[in-house]
Amino acid sequence: MRTQLTTSPRTAAERLLQNDVVAFPTETVYGLGANAFSGEAVKRIFRAKGRPADNPLIVHVAETDRLPSVVRSVPKYAERLIEAFMPGPLTVVLPKQRRISALATAGLDTVGVRIPDHAVARRFLAECGVPVAAPSANLSGKPSPTTWQAVKRDLNGRIPMILKGNPSRIGVESTVVDCTGAAPVILRAGGLTLEELRSVVPSARLMKPNSAGRVKSPGMKYRHYSPLAYVFLVSGPSETVPMKSAAYIGLHGVGVRPFGMKKVCRSVTEYARSLYRFFRECDDRGIETVYCETVSEDGLGLALMDRIRKASLQ
Ligand code: TXA
Ligand code: MG
Repeated sequence: MRTQLTTSPRTAAERLLQNDVVAFPTETVYGLGANAFSGEAVKRIFRAKGRPADNPLIVHVAETDRLPSVVRSVPKYAERLIEAFMPGPLTVVLPKQRRISALATAGLDTVGVRIPDHAVARRFLAECGVPVAAPSANLSGKPSPTTWQAVKRDLNGRIPMILKGNPSRIGVESTVVDCTGAAPVILRAGGLTLEELRSVVPSARLMKPNSAGRVKSPGMKYRHYSPLAYVFLVSGPSETVPMKSAAYIGLHGVGVRPFGMKKVCRSVTEYARSLYRFFRECDDRGIETVYCETVSEDGLGLALMDRIRKASLQ
């Protein structure tokens, strides 16, 4: 299969409506989309990514008025979150409509839904007219792609089309919030912060690890976001062993230390935006060890620390 590149949201949508999979840009990471109403189309996502079938997908729509085609009911507090943060890096988990493919939700009675805050993505979704199930457009286990080149690197020859866009502005995935209970619970930290959620619904909280008997967000149990290199968390450059086969990413300068690659970010926002791309560049250059500087776990730091911690578990 040849992978075609396009900049036309309409061309990409036409392809998707033929029950094919299409990669598309969003402000968080690139997604790999398929018609969420079609089990046959959704199956192709799992096949292209090598993704385990028990990990549900997020369903994307262009506008809030499309939400009723995906979810059955919306509690009051979730309405307030939708009003405040959609479009944006927020995924809400709600009771699913029957028409959404059971394959997309891994058989769950709930579905995660999101509206990307990205002009090309929304034009594409509007042209599709159907809800679009889409995980991140990486091979399972690799860091999520934040550029179309990274999508091509992973999925060239495995998918028919990539809708090209700019590098993702946020660089980490959306915040997944369970809205099926009495108050919102963050299942996966992401681009929308806990503080922002609480400014609208003060009772919002983080899921306590292992507090529930069952896995609420099945995707969280898989190894994720990892480069081939070993990832170590450090509080600064002084805790590292600098050498050509090692890399450093963080907020503080590393001076003349001889790292093979380094990235000093001006802010946590830039750090989050750069992380996955940095991991991929490290892999391309055969880096064996990546040192990630830890940051405080507030704001976007919560999602960033989650990702670097997961990358270090291998
Ligand atoms: O930013 C994002 O969220 C990107 C872009 C493409 O939208 N998508 C993304 O999808 O990161 P994916 O499949 O890589 O991650 C989806 C996460 C997984 O952790 C999955 O378990 C969780 O959302 N999830 C999806 N549906 C769920 C549901 N019904 N209940 C609980 N968790 C769910
Ligand atoms: Mg993913």
